Amino acid sequence: MDSTDVDAYADDEFAALYDLVYAEYDDDVDLYEQFARRGTGPVLEICAGSGRVTLPLLERGLDVVALDTSAPMLERLQSPVTGGTGRLRVVEDDMRSFDLGEQFHLVFCAFGSFEQLLTTEDQLACLRSVARHLTTDGRFVAELRSLTAIDWRPEPALLYEWTKPDPATGEPITKLRTQAASGARQVTVDTVIFDRVTTDGIVRRRQIEVAMRAIGRYEIVFLLQAAGLRLADVYGDTDLSPYTDASDRMIVVAAKV
Ligand SMILES: C[S@@+](CC[C@H](N)C(=O)[O-])C[C@H]1O[C@@H](n2cnc3c(N)ncnc32)[C@H](O)[C@@H]1O
Repeated sequence: MDSTDVDAYADDEFAALYDLVYAEYDDDVDLYEQFARRGTGPVLEICAGSGRVTLPLLERGLDVVALDTSAPMLERLQSPVTGGTGRLRVVEDDMRSFDLGEQFHLVFCAFGSFEQLLTTEDQLACLRSVARHLTTDGRFVAELRSLTAIDWRPEPALLYEWTKPDPATGEPITKLRTQAASGARQVTVDTVIFDRVTTDGIVRRRQIEVAMRAIGRYEIVFLLQAAGLRLADVYGDTDLSPYTDASDRMIVVAAKV
């Protein structure tokens, strides 16, 4: 639980399972489009994965540089034929140490992906890399979970979530999950299990652990400051509504000092 778990996305099957779980989710795409249209030139998505956000942005004519450590996720991002006119550049690199030698008016990190960084050192390394890649009036936008929305009680049971056919083979896949959490360490660990029933009736189980470190509203101010950034705005949802006790997420908008 003390280092970034990039292995979770390191194989083709898990990359495909990620898309099975999240491909339909697009609540945040308008948010990033809105910020992308505030400037000119390409935007940089870090932890772009298989392109859940990058692909619709390309379809809407925006140019995107997509950075991720996972070759299988980036391979999936490049496989679909998009109907859009946006240009895609893919970079296999780490959000803690990338150095592309260019600056963007928007760098963003969607869907809580920044919380995969489990230590303050890793968080700062990432924010310093981000700061190097922002234009003077550029913005870094990151969606984090709201502290109040996280269920800090450990989940004692393995919960059934759904059964869906694998789009490639038709084999039924069942998703189960359970969560461990430590409020003291601000870390949650989701264990997600995928059970696939193969055509000969055998159940094949794959298990993944996703650890995330939550970040508070005022903690982020100091992290940004230490990396040469400042908090420009904070919102409670992708519609840019205020951040309140009822918010499920915290949308952080940062700028260079
Ligand atoms: C939850 S997925 C998000 C994918 C996509 N942005 C989305 O919103 O659906 C998290 C992604 O972060 C990537 N990742 C994890 N640690 C990373 C790191 N240190 N540097 C770059 N990418 C990383 C994983 O490979 C994975 O593709």
